[in-house]
Amino acid sequence: MKLVVTGGAGYVGSVCADALLEAGHKVVIIDDFSTGNPDAVPSGAELVAGTIDDVIDEVLAAGDVDGVLHFAARSLVGESMEDPAEYWHYNLGVSLTLLDAMRRHDVKSLVFSSTAATYGEPDQVPIEETAPTHPTNPYGATKLAIDYAITSYCNAYGLAATSLRYFNVAGAHGSIGENHKTETHLIPLVLQVAMGYRDKIFVFGDDWPTQDGTCIRDYIHIRDLADAHILALESNVAGEHRIFNLGSGDGYSVLEVIEMCREVTGHSIPAEVAPRRAGDPAVLVASSEKIKRELGWDPSRTELRRIVEDAWAFTQELGDKSHAAR
Ligand code: UFG
Repeated sequence: MKLVVTGGAGYVGSVCADALLEAGHKVVIIDDFSTGNPDAVPSGAELVAGTIDDVIDEVLAAGDVDGVLHFAARSLVGESMEDPAEYWHYNLGVSLTLLDAMRRHDVKSLVFSSTAATYGEPDQVPIEETAPTHPTNPYGATKLAIDYAITSYCNAYGLAATSLRYFNVAGAHGSIGENHKTETHLIPLVLQVAMGYRDKIFVFGDDWPTQDGTCIRDYIHIRDLADAHILALESNVAGEHRIFNLGSGDGYSVLEVIEMCREVTGHSIPAEVAPRRAGDPAVLVASSEKIKRELGWDPSRTELRRIVEDAWAFTQELGDKSHAAR
């Protein structure tokens, strides 16, 4: 298939693009590099540098596009609390532009990169796709709004779409890993302490209603996540909008993650308790039974140790490269 991958220079988009190439698909990446990294664009993909607004017509008009995987987005919970306008314009506005361009050019298949943040504070854990959606931050709200738009485009215009609601994506795929310009995610930050780039890790709150008082998250390996995108794409159904959760099904507290990083790196990793971060839910753990049942998704890298080991190998490689470049 010929596939357009928006945000293909980002962490998730680039690993998925690589997996699509590996599976024998042709990939055209659109990225404006506002948060993406040129080094992450897999060799073998065609790159169109620019914003979706500016280039989507030209890319889809080239013809023969079988589907779009839409990753381009602003995706930081904390930042979305401080600057919601950026999130509404970039996430929702750009997605509507994309959906309309797909309609104009008769491109009928979409896989959308969504998030557990659409659920907000859950009533029940593990979270199933039928759970109520009450996002606690603008990031989750924008992604939920896009889901509503996709559903109505599927119903009215015959679009075939799947939204994948990621829990906490982590780990690395070979030489591609988390390398955000502004890093806010727990595992890469903890590993930066182990590398000596930071003195300590701040633990955002130890008074949450959990066993050790720190937030619990469900970490999913980036390569298992990429496999789910291929399964979703290959089974998309005209006129249907399917929604699947993607997690490993196990919750780990912030302190447990830090401890695993200590074990894997052999570094003491000093930690200090800091105030809660606005917009954080206490516990997010996925039920991924639906995608396993319906699409046969079979994640094989679900252990936290494996996830941290792969992230650590990547972090060290990145450190060596930037050292060599100096
Ligand atoms: N945390 C710290 N210290 C830090 C960074 C994070 O204690 O320096 C804590 C956070 O408060 C949270 C946990 O570690 O409790 C995980 O935080 P991340 O920033 O790594 O990830 P989030 O859970 O905030 O968000 C991620 C994605 C979202 C997605 C969400 C779903 O960034 O897109 O997972 O679970 F919606």
